[in-house]
Amino acid sequence: MAITVSLINMKGGVGKSTLSVNLAWHYAAYSNWLKKVLVVDLDPQFNASQYLVGVKKYQEHLSDGKPTMWEIMEQHTTTPTGKVGKLDPKKAIRSVRSIKGGGKIDLIPSRLELALSLKNPGHKVDLLKKSLQKVESDYDLIIIDCAPTESILTTATYLASDYILVPVKPEYLSTIGLPLLVSSMEDFLLRYEDSSLELAGIVFNGCSGYAPEEAKSKSEVKKMAAANDWHVFQSEISYSKSYPKGAREGQPIFRTSYARTTAASNFRQFASEFATKIGLT
Ligand SMILES: Nc1ncnc2c1ncn2[C@@H]1O[C@H](COP(=O)(O)OP(=O)(O)OP(=O)(O)O)[C@@H](O)[C@H]1O
Ligand SMILES: [Mg+2]
Repeated sequence: MAITVSLINMKGGVGKSTLSVNLAWHYAAYSNWLKKVLVVDLDPQFNASQYLVGVKKYQEHLSDGKPTMWEIMEQHTTTPTGKVGKLDPKKAIRSVRSIKGGGKIDLIPSRLELALSLKNPGHKVDLLKKSLQKVESDYDLIIIDCAPTESILTTATYLASDYILVPVKPEYLSTIGLPLLVSSMEDFLLRYEDSSLELAGIVFNGCSGYAPEEAKSKSEVKKMAAANDWHVFQSEISYSKSYPKGAREGQPIFRTSYARTTAASNFRQFASEFATKIGLT
């Protein structure tokens, strides 16, 4: 059975998509990890989809009429033209990369129309979980990249996940946004008492290591974490232009042409710590 992790934070731009893609690449292709990883893009903004397959191939996926997360969420919906039938989730999976030795990255892409699903939530909340249950035996790890808003998709992702990973930028607005996420998780756990959802932890992303504002924000988050019993990862992900460059090149940080050794090794350290935390061996 695959381990399923959602990257979530109601604050935008904290690195959810960047870390989703880089973690997928790391476990599939770095060194001797060679895991089978499925990335699920649950954001109507489809950043992770474009990062993983490139703009052109992403457009081809849509123009070829291949299904996405949207079609998965629209199964069983009654539209003016009739009921949309059951969808085999395998049909929405796109192969991104196969690695010699057995690792692979697959993707369930998203599309803008996924936002429309939110207007008509109906009984869609468990469709993600049910769809992933049908494919999870093909994977070691499923990474769900979430949108920065609370919606039916948030509940859907909580239901489908074993763990939540929360990237936080060490800056004031990111810090004050955290209680939003906490109350959303607490609310979910109250409604779904049987859920075994766990917060894997908070990871600081985009750290430069010296700014006073950064130190202050980190200490505020750590205080909040201690009061609520949340784990904060010791490894922090440094600020590096290699991340946006990697996104442009469709590559993870360890394959970008000018990744500075420290930034790449920071990321490796975090990936190892995170794997231990979620029991990925
Ligand atoms: N460690 C980092 N160093 C430098 N730039 C980074 C780092 N992490 C992310 N970025 C950049 O910050 C921007 C936002 O990152 P990303 O899109 O991954 O955030 P997000 O949380 O997924 O945003 P959204 O909430 O909009 O989905 C991107 O341009 C990305 O390249
Ligand atoms: Mg994103």
